[in-house]
Amino acid sequence: MDPSPVEPVTRRLGITSRIRALVAHVPGEADWLIDVGTNHGILPIAALRAGCAARCVAIDKSRTALAETRRRLRRSGCLDRVRLVCADTLAAVELPAPEHRVVVCLAGLGPRTIVDLLASGLPRIAARPTRLLLNPLVSSAGPRRFLREHGFDLVADETVADRGREYELLVAEAG
Ligand SMILES: C[S@@+](CC[C@H](N)C(=O)[O-])C[C@H]1O[C@@H](n2cnc3c(N)ncnc32)[C@H](O)[C@@H]1O
Repeated sequence: MDPSPVEPVTRRLGITSRIRALVAHVPGEADWLIDVGTNHGILPIAALRAGCAARCVAIDKSRTALAETRRRLRRSGCLDRVRLVCADTLAAVELPAPEHRVVVCLAGLGPRTIVDLLASGLPRIAARPTRLLLNPLVSSAGPRRFLREHGFDLVADETVADRGREYELLVAEAG
């Protein structure tokens, strides 16, 4: 079999099995992927390359992380499809118009941070067709409670193995 030309590129970009599991839950018809705590923009790059999101918003509270994200996006030819936002809350972030299907990802963050971020964006998240991808670094108990209390349905609940660790991945939609 021919060696896949994609393999070395994805490894260099840091597209691990956890990132691939997240991309698998971005529906092909998603208009916007909003990646909160994007760090180096690996998820937006992977989703755009896979063709499952038309545009992305990459949010991080760290300007240093976003500078590296910008460099990687430019190198991978994705910069024109990603809006970079420096923020530590969803409250001030301009979201696309309500008719757009949106996927909001909060991955590689602590459970408390995930709940706080969701709470800060809830009114606007709930006002449109939104899918949430939650991948807490440790316990998922807090995010699960938030989803229950705010009327979200779990559409997938998985454990992903990545480089010797297991991660929980919750996918939810407004009920
Ligand atoms: C461990 S990295 C996770 C990167 C990526 N989401 C992933 O799953 O691989 C966490 C990133 O979240 C950012 N972050 C942490 N708390 C945040 C907050 N409240 N708002 C925005 N970004 C935050 C950090 O600056 C860091 O870049």
